[in-house]
Amino acid sequence: MSSLLQDAIQKLAKDAVGRFVRPNQVVGLGSGSTAAYIVREMAGLKAKNTLLCVPTSLQIKVEAEKSGLRFADEGRIPDIDIVFDGADQIDGRFNMIKGGGGALLREKILISSAKTVVIVADEAKFVKSFSRSVPIEVHPMARTSAAKKLEEVGGRPAMRTLDKGYPFVTENGNIILDTVFSSIPDPEKAELELKGIAGVMEVGLFTRKSDVYYYRAKSDGTFEMV
Ligand code: 5RP
Repeated sequence: MSSLLQDAIQKLAKDAVGRFVRPNQVVGLGSGSTAAYIVREMAGLKAKNTLLCVPTSLQIKVEAEKSGLRFADEGRIPDIDIVFDGADQIDGRFNMIKGGGGALLREKILISSAKTVVIVADEAKFVKSFSRSVPIEVHPMARTSAAKKLEEVGGRPAMRTLDKGYPFVTENGNIILDTVFSSIPDPEKAELELKGIAGVMEVGLFTRKSDVYYYRAKSDGTFEMV
């Protein structure tokens, strides 16, 4: 990533935290490198000790610990005021593909509960229509049956692996089928249909529209809300 783009993300993190975080909030923390900028920015907040955070992965939890943030019990998820998160792709109608870091299930739980959602992403993530695979979290027992069903609906699933071919296992003990579709004309419908396959724990299509704000970091070092 260029240093100008890093500058832009740094600036937008400052703006987003200043604009959206208020004392005594319950704050959901999405995962990934861009969300980590937000968490680092939160370290400097005067009201830091009044906030309670709910992390979506060990990666962001470790960042939050470094920033001196406090954590809420997962029972507080219905009280989440705001979630900050990144995205892998955002299409022209603001549907998103998420789960590149494997935290999609917990991110979906938080995003679907939060009063407000703030998405932070660099300009390369904003596309007219999706052009990357959809991460689909699947129970290990359903790895072949769910893959077969995904093929039947036109997908080309591939199990995500680590170096040397070991399966990538999510923090929930599941696997991820990164699934290519030639096109996704109706992401909302696709999200529901794919979620209906037995063994699918969560789908990396995020189609929530209300109270979602998008920040775009630009490679000239500036940012905008879109
Ligand atoms: C993790 C995610 C991330 O938000 C997404 O992968 C973007 O990450 P990054 O900001 O590192 O590009 O969905 O499951």
